[in-house]
Parts: sequence; C-alpha cells; structure tokens
Amino acid sequence: MLEESLAKKRGNFSATVCANKQIRERFYRLVLEFSGEGAEAFAKTGAGQFAQLDLSDTALPSVEAIPDDLADVAERKILLRRPFSFADVTTKGNKTSVDILYCVIGPATLRMTTLSAKESVSVLGPLGNGFWVPDGTKTALLVSGGMGAGPLQHLAKVLTSDFPDIDVIAFAGARSAEALPFERRLDEISQQLGFSLPEFAKYGVESLVATDDGSAGFTGPVTGCLSEWLGRSKSAGKGMVIYSCGPEAMLARVAEIAKEKNIDCQVSMERRMACGISLCQSCAVECRTTGSNETVYKLCCQDGPVFDGSEVAWGIE
Ligand SMILES: Cc1cc2nc3c(=O)[nH]c(=O)nc-3n(C[C@H](O)[C@H](O)[C@H](O)COP(=O)(O)OP(=O)(O)OC[C@H]3O[C@@H](n4cnc5c(N)ncnc54)[C@H](O)[C@@H]3O)c2cc1C
Ligand code: FES
Repeated sequence: MLEESLAKKRGNFSATVCANKQIRERFYRLVLEFSGEGAEAFAKTGAGQFAQLDLSDTALPSVEAIPDDLADVAERKILLRRPFSFADVTTKGNKTSVDILYCVIGPATLRMTTLSAKESVSVLGPLGNGFWVPDGTKTALLVSGGMGAGPLQHLAKVLTSDFPDIDVIAFAGARSAEALPFERRLDEISQQLGFSLPEFAKYGVESLVATDDGSAGFTGPVTGCLSEWLGRSKSAGKGMVIYSCGPEAMLARVAEIAKEKNIDCQVSMERRMACGISLCQSCAVECRTTGSNETVYKLCCQDGPVFDGSEVAWGIE
C-alpha cells in the first residue's frame, strides 16, 4: 500500500528556493530544497500530501507585473499560510527537493512569483493523507482539471516506480490549451487526442488532453473524455482505480462516473485551510456514513485531502 510509506514525521522547516520558473502566463513551477530534518521529513512525502507555506513576508512583484484582475487584492496582508501539494519529490544524498506547480489567483500566489534562488521559505508539512493503492489494482486512471495535474504527476512517478505492473493513463483537462498547466505548448507538437504530455510521458505514462473550447485534444470536459475512453475500454471496472484532482464539480462528476462503472475512485479535495493541522475546523468536508442517511464532517487537512469518491456527500442539501 502506498499509504504505509507516507511521511510519518512532520514539522515546520526552512526550505531554500532552487528555481521558480514561469511555465505559462499564470502558471509557475517552484522548486524548494530541504536539508537536515526537513529533508528527512519530506523524503517520504506521499503523492497527494501537501504543505502549508508561509508567504507573509514575501515581496510583491512590481506594479507592471500585477495582472489587472488582481490589482485590488495585491496589497492584502497574507496572514495565513497557504496549502500546496507537490508535483514531484526527489531525494539526492542528504537533500530533498519538492516541486510545486502553482497558479496565480490571489495575493499569496502573486507574491510567490517573486521568490528567487537562495531565498528561504517556512514550510509546515508534510500534511494530510495521500493517495493509496488498493490490492489488486491493475489500471490507474489519473484524471485532472487545471492545477489538479500537479499531485497526479507525482502519483504517476510513484506508481510507475513502485508498482510497475500497474498500467497508468493520465487525462488532463482545462478550459483551453492556454489554460493547461504544462510547460510545452501543445500546438508545437500535436493537437491530437492521443497527445502525450511530456510531464507524464517521462514516466512512460500515456496522456489524453481535453479542452472545453476544443483548442487541444478532446472537445469538452475531461470527464467527457474519461467517459468516452471507458466506453471503449474492454476491461473497464475490474482492477481499475480512478485518481482525481481538480475543481469540485469535476470531482463530483468523476465520482458519479466511477459509481456507474463500479470503479474505485479517490478524489483530492480542496478547502480553505487556516491551520492545516486539525485545530481550526475550517476545512470540513461533508461525508456519508455507511448504512445510514446521516452525514458527518471530516477534516480535509487531517482525514484528507484524499477521500474515497463514494464517501463524499456531493451536493447534499
Ligand atoms: C490540499 C490543497 C492542495 C493545494 N495544492 C495546490 C497546488 O498544488 N497548486 C496551486 O496552485 N494551488 C493549490 N491549492 C490551492 C492554493 O492553496 C490556493 O490557490 C492559494 O491558497 C490561493 O492563495 P491566494 O492568496 O493567492 O488567493 P486567495 O485570495 O486566497 O484565493 C483566490 C480565490 O480562490 C479561492 N480559493 C483559494 N483557495 C481555495 C481553496 N483551497 N478552495 C476553494 N477555493 C479557494 C478563494 O475563495 C478566492 O476566490 C491547494 C489547496 C489545497 C487545500
Ligand atoms: S485547516 Fe484547520 S482544521 Fe483543517
């Protein structure tokens, strides 16, 4: 089980910025390096776990570099840490580095863009559970929407290295080709449905792209692409697990498809997180209880962020 190898140690560590590369207009890939106890703690980070970054003292970019839609919120103080999961975790010697794929959407992520090599960042983690691999898994379908592709890249790496008998296929969706959080431009290579994203191809994982406007790959939501693929698959169901990360409406639809096809499904949920360590109760996720109509609230930071898709009470009024 992947779960058993998850990091058991957690703490507040200082990490050093190694790189902070802009990969698309609003998307960046930040690489942080830990040494000492931090390196030890983060070396075993499971795919789907996350950390809380303190960005309160991080500088704002220059006025010209602030997108118009963030001009009003840019100056806001960053009182709370912000949660981020990892697109990669690498250990070399006594150092561990983690890659964070992030999208600039507000004051904290805007400040993140100014982090430069050798700067220090306070990182609390690794936190939460991670994805797990049920016994008998033969095929893993990694379904992402937008920034959800980050933790699924890490999962692709872990599955292909630790579970070589499992077939892994990635489905990545976004509004348009420009909104896909990947480094290389799709139109330079292919706009075909079977386009192989380098971020997954490097682990030998085939990938399918879906865009709402049809500017790359399948035209429509990534859930449509998944349904179509499952409709064509002769072995849909048995030994298959869907791992998903992205907007909540997409996760709800993925869980619904999985239920229809009798496929195990794990979803990585997002909540605003004030503490990240089960103290503030700000990150509740409403979940079903087995054998009754009652629901209970679980904590996304402690019981998640990864939940069984059938457990989440999607849209219950
Ligand atoms: C477990 C977890 C892992 C995450 N991993 C990543 C990642 O790998 N890459 C990445 O770019 N982002 C990730 N996020 C989201 C990230 O934490 C937010 O984008 C960030 O906190 C935004 O901070 P901000 O100050 O820039 O914007 P804010 O001003 O805080 O937010 C901008 C807008 O986005 C909404 N929003 C922000 N965070 C959330 C949330 N968690 N749930 C629902 N709505 C929200 C706000 O309501 C607001 O409308 C993750 C969140 C969680 C809970
Ligand atoms: S973020 Fe505070 S309890 Fe989950």
